[in-house]
Amino acid sequence: MNEGGSNVNGYGLYICGEWIDSPSSQTFQTTNPATGEVLATFTKGTREDVHKAIEAAEKALPNWRRYPAPKRGEILLKSASIMRQRKDELGELVTKEMGKVIAEGRGDVQEAVDFLEYISGEGRRLLGETTTSELPQKFCMTVRQPIGIVGCITPWNFPMAVPCWKLGAALISGNTVVYKPATLTPLCAAILVEIFGEAGLPPGVLNMVTGPADTVGRTIVEHPKIRAVSFTGGIAAGRDVYSRASASMKRVGLELGGKNPLIIMDDANIELAIEGVLFGAFGTAGQRCTATSRLIIHEKLYDEVLEKLLARTKALKIGDPMDPRVDVGPVSSGEQEKKILKYIEIGVEEGAKLMCGGRKLRGSLYDKGFFIEPTIFEARHGMRITKEEMFGPVLPVIKARDYEEAVRISNDVDYGLSSSIYTRSITTAYRAIDELEAGITYINAPTIGAEVHLPFGGVKNTGTGAREAGTAAIEEFTEIKTVFIDYSERLQKAQIQD
Ligand code: UN1
Repeated sequence: MNEGGSNVNGYGLYICGEWIDSPSSQTFQTTNPATGEVLATFTKGTREDVHKAIEAAEKALPNWRRYPAPKRGEILLKSASIMRQRKDELGELVTKEMGKVIAEGRGDVQEAVDFLEYISGEGRRLLGETTTSELPQKFCMTVRQPIGIVGCITPWNFPMAVPCWKLGAALISGNTVVYKPATLTPLCAAILVEIFGEAGLPPGVLNMVTGPADTVGRTIVEHPKIRAVSFTGGIAAGRDVYSRASASMKRVGLELGGKNPLIIMDDANIELAIEGVLFGAFGTAGQRCTATSRLIIHEKLYDEVLEKLLARTKALKIGDPMDPRVDVGPVSSGEQEKKILKYIEIGVEEGAKLMCGGRKLRGSLYDKGFFIEPTIFEARHGMRITKEEMFGPVLPVIKARDYEEAVRISNDVDYGLSSSIYTRSITTAYRAIDELEAGITYINAPTIGAEVHLPFGGVKNTGTGAREAGTAAIEEFTEIKTVFIDYSERLQKAQIQD
């Protein structure tokens, strides 16, 4: 689609396998956070647009749920193969629309490919159980069934990978989908739904409506025909989704971020740990749910680690994320930038000591985008910057007396997504696996970089217990049906007859 002769593509709604116009004449733009360049124009969807998407998903559901799961898998595998072939181009698109450095843009696409390849195999499993009966000539089993129409609401920080986690798992399980991508990254989403279409996904199985959370998102969450919602985003939005969805008793999968600690113990490999901190805290400009957002250092190593870390942080190259030599790109939007700078101010006001960074970068290319210096604070546990998710390149560092104190600090937050400990002691490592309150624990590796064939999700306020990726992914999108088959040809009474 093209609007009024401009060079910028204009997109409508993706319903029933094609782009259609919305009666809403309102649009919004997606821009490059490094340069301000407008990439495309999208429709601000309305309630009615979501209703149209739900109708399409409802019509497509009977055939799709009957479509053999291995065949569903073939379509996902084909989508993965198209993405693999277009990896460089799609990686550039991720970088242009979201701002992560190009190696990570490609990584985002790779993670999408990995997951689609992995989950396509689930078409030949979708396992249930068979078991014994307490009565003779009776057979018991469970089978997995699709939930129905599901809503997927995705974030901007992994605009290819996270949508593929959700859509891949929803589709292989036989659901039809109404999809709302983040308003910061609709172009990645548009290309993604087109790829699924090209791979042979039948019309109406996947429908996308772009637009604001308080109309498009809310309609998805509240509509009684949508039986499950999978949402990744911030905690306030997640709470809102959870409470609104409860009115229609929807299944809700939430992934709401973290305040992920990385502990460096006194027996750690210091150089390795510092590499880990740099990647964990400043990779993706700190905009991962799994980002290392607290560094807790054993007091014995504290001065040495901090000094080395500061030197390495100051040497990071910040700039155009398309330049492969750049370490840290822009943050994703003006709003993000404002929020992160506000947290830096809060840190200073509450008495944390600014050790490096702390400013918005200005001059030449920086003026066009949202660039914030990688920032390190010496902080005390309990300050807001040690408890709240900032989602930017800002790292508070906390000193701990010993292992016990490090774990106590780690656990004393509302979140519980990822965690990490650097130690050479097998005892300390195993204790940390037991004791860190998080859905993910890394030993001698940073808090980021989860692999797609393992479950991903968190405890406490990070979510409601659902896991994405891995074999757990299909739990989020399937119902279990329990089946009893009595072939005795007589009425048998469980619990009553001997
Ligand atoms: C996210 O930030 O929402 O583990 C997802 C990681 C990535 C996924 C992060 N594989 O850092």
